[in-house]
Parts: sequence; structure tokens; C-alpha cells
Amino acid sequence: MTLAKTLAITPLSDALGAEVTGIDLREPVDKADAARMEQALTERLVLVIRDQKFSPDQYLAALRLFGNTMHQHLTGLLMKDHPEIAVLDSRRTKAAPDGVYAPIGSRDWHTDHTNHARPPKITALYAVKLPKSGGDTGFANMQRAYDSLPAEERDALGKLKTVSKIEDREYVSAEDRKKYGVPQTHPLIRTHPVSRKKAIYVHPGKLARIEGMEPEESLDYVNGLLDRVITPDVTYRHKWRTGDMLLCDNRAVLHIAHRDYDPAEGRVMHRVLLEGDVPF
Ligand code: SIN
Repeated sequence: MTLAKTLAITPLSDALGAEVTGIDLREPVDKADAARMEQALTERLVLVIRDQKFSPDQYLAALRLFGNTMHQHLTGLLMKDHPEIAVLDSRRTKAAPDGVYAPIGSRDWHTDHTNHARPPKITALYAVKLPKSGGDTGFANMQRAYDSLPAEERDALGKLKTVSKIEDREYVSAEDRKKYGVPQTHPLIRTHPVSRKKAIYVHPGKLARIEGMEPEESLDYVNGLLDRVITPDVTYRHKWRTGDMLLCDNRAVLHIAHRDYDPAEGRVMHRVLLEGDVPF
């Protein structure tokens, strides 16, 4: 006799994150379990669903529980038969035009694809291959970070708008560079459409400027702000296990891939983005 699995959701840190066990997302998910995961994602902002064993089709089917997939402009990294999936393989890291050798997502704390008019609500990562040690990803609860600021500063930040550009990377096709290279303006402080909580929302690497400031001044301002607010109180560092499927709510979380391993060893994540709304 096989015993039915029971869904369990457990916090991963004080700041954010929850671990989900007792579910195989290749199987149909009942409504109550889907609702519990949805609620946990709104409250904990990062969900790690353990021990999954997906083919690409099964991975995409599982993600449809949480939303619709969207095109990623990592054109050169998209899986041939499943272009919704970007294969982030550290062994393919090349030096960027500025000479820096940095696996994707490892340069700064960021949210994804802010150069889109409707940036993704969720980034999903599925851990396929991990280095012997390291390869961690950091997550920062930017609602908590916002709440930690004095009221006058929150008011001042609430008036600012960021203008995002596309980054100059070899894996972005000329077509995507043109299509997604149109500057996009978003609020620096974003309201979560479900919880209505406010969060600091920015991708420093894609920041062209803050409206009313020069580009260099804008970047200094944003970096100074993030340096101050991203403290251990608001962060969680995820140590991956093969088979983890992680969902990150981009509307309220910044993340960073740590450079704590040798990229030549091979760290492979399958990344999918889920459609979001126009930030407000
Ligand atoms: C990303 O920034 O989307 C990638 C994060 C990771 O590989 O840990």
C-alpha cells in the first residue's frame, strides 16, 4: 500500500522563504493544496518545492499552476524544443563587454526583466545540476526593506520613477535587443497587487536613470539605497538541492546568484518567467 503524501509548508528563514514538501507536481494538484501554495507565496515571497523530477514538459505544466509563461530575452540560452525555458549553465559563462566574467544574475541584487512593460511576476528556477559546494542564491524581502526606512524617506522614494534599458549581452539576439530595448519607466516603490504591501523595486544593471537625475547619480543613489537596506534581517540564502523548484515573487524580492563556486564545474538551472502586470 502506498501512503498518500501530505503537503507541508515550513518557513525557511525569518525574513522570507518557505519550503514545500509532500507534493509531486507531475501529478494533478487538488484545489486546496494549490490555494495553500499560492497563499504561502504571497506571504513568504519565495517557495522552494523540494524533490521534483521533471522533464521540460512536466516542469512547464507544473508552472502553469502559478501563471502563464512569458518570453525571456536570453535568446541564445533558450532550450530549442522548449523556448520558454532558459538554460543557465555556468560553463557557458563568457566575459561581458566590460570584461567581467559573471554567471547570469551574479552581478548585483536585482529583479528580472525590468526593461519589459509588464515584467514577470515570478522567476522560477529548477535545479538540474549543482557544484560540489556553493552555487547559492540570495533573496531579499524588499517589503521589509521598505518598511525599515523612516516615513519621510519612504514618501520621497514613493515619488521616484526608474527608467530601465536592456543590457549589452552576447546572448541577446539583435531582434530581441530592438524589441525589448525601448526604455521602460516603472515606480521605484511598487505595490503588490495581491497583498497591497509596498516594496523597493529595481534592477541596478538595467537602470538607465531615475527620472530627473543623471545616469551616474541615479546608479549611485540606487546602489547606496540597496547597500543600506539589504541587511541580514531581510535576506535568505538558499542552498540548493537537485530537484528544487523555486518560485520567487519578483514584485517584492531582489535576488543574486552568489559567485561561491567554480563556474567550470557546472551549475545548471532551468529558468522560466511567469507573466506579470504593469507595476504601480
Ligand atoms: C537569475 O538571476 O535569474 C539567476 C539566479 C541563479 O541562477 O541563482
